[in-house]
Amino acid sequence: MSVVDNAGVADAPILELDDVGKSYGNVHALRGVGLNVRQGEVTCVLGDNGAGKSTLIKIIAGLHEHTDGTMRLDGVACRFGSPRDAQSRGIATVYQDLALAPLMSVWRNFFLGNELRRGPLRILDIARMKRICGEELVKMGVIIPDLDRPVASLSGGQRQCIAIARAIYFGARVIILDEPTAALGVKQSGVVLKYIVKARDAGLGVILITHNPHHAYLVGDHFVILKLGRVVLDARRDELTLEQLTTEMAGGQELAELGHELRGADQEERRK
Ligand SMILES: Nc1ncnc2c1ncn2[C@@H]1O[C@H](COP(=O)(O)OP(=O)(O)OP(=O)(O)O)[C@@H](O)[C@H]1O
Ligand SMILES: [Mg+2]
Repeated sequence: MSVVDNAGVADAPILELDDVGKSYGNVHALRGVGLNVRQGEVTCVLGDNGAGKSTLIKIIAGLHEHTDGTMRLDGVACRFGSPRDAQSRGIATVYQDLALAPLMSVWRNFFLGNELRRGPLRILDIARMKRICGEELVKMGVIIPDLDRPVASLSGGQRQCIAIARAIYFGARVIILDEPTAALGVKQSGVVLKYIVKARDAGLGVILITHNPHHAYLVGDHFVILKLGRVVLDARRDELTLEQLTTEMAGGQELAELGHELRGADQEERRK
């Protein structure tokens, strides 16, 4: 693809949410949410516990339907009836713990649900699946010497990388990563962030859900902060510093008030 093509494609969002809301009975988990996901960009969705991040992913991944507003894919209004429906339209979701089947080998996981078969008896084409899986992981720079190893024996970072490589190979256009670095140490988080950048460079629209403003800022092009189901910040990288993002995430004004309160309480204690 030429640079001109890339620029043209990047202008129009693949996925757009406009004024999207979701109620569970009388609990409003999301209200008036707008989100644009562009190809070749990492869109970071940040927010505290209960902010509505998982609810947002579930709508995009086809697990739940939104109750208000519009979602558009390539400019056409849509609702995904099921996760399979979303997948078939190029939306891949990597859930933190459920990314892969732990007892199955690396190559089985890679082709799970999309197995290659051969001959009139349609037997599993193991040799071809192993070869392709190996090639695809090498392309991503993931080094796993033995593809027969069960996934349970791999590190959390490696597992996330396999799930990302698989999504790219099977033609995902949007990949949603749910807190991919939350359970990882510094080094493994770095590895996963590198693959997030590779997915972006492969032209995918990446949605990165995270609590961690530092991780978000390392890879993000666009940042959205949710709070109690509403968007409280929507900014592009050049409009925002890491300090601002961190302060917004930490609660900004609320944190300052809490500081006052705690110091006040402290002085009160001392006076007694
Ligand atoms: N199935 C459900 N039924 C009722 N309420 C729900 C349901 N799922 C989520 N909620 C509510 O919606 C709000 C948003 O929850 P959500 O799980 O989307 O937050 P989150 O940002 O993913 O939080 P966390 O960081 O803790 O994962 C919360 O108040 C939650 O209690
Ligand atoms: Mg959640």
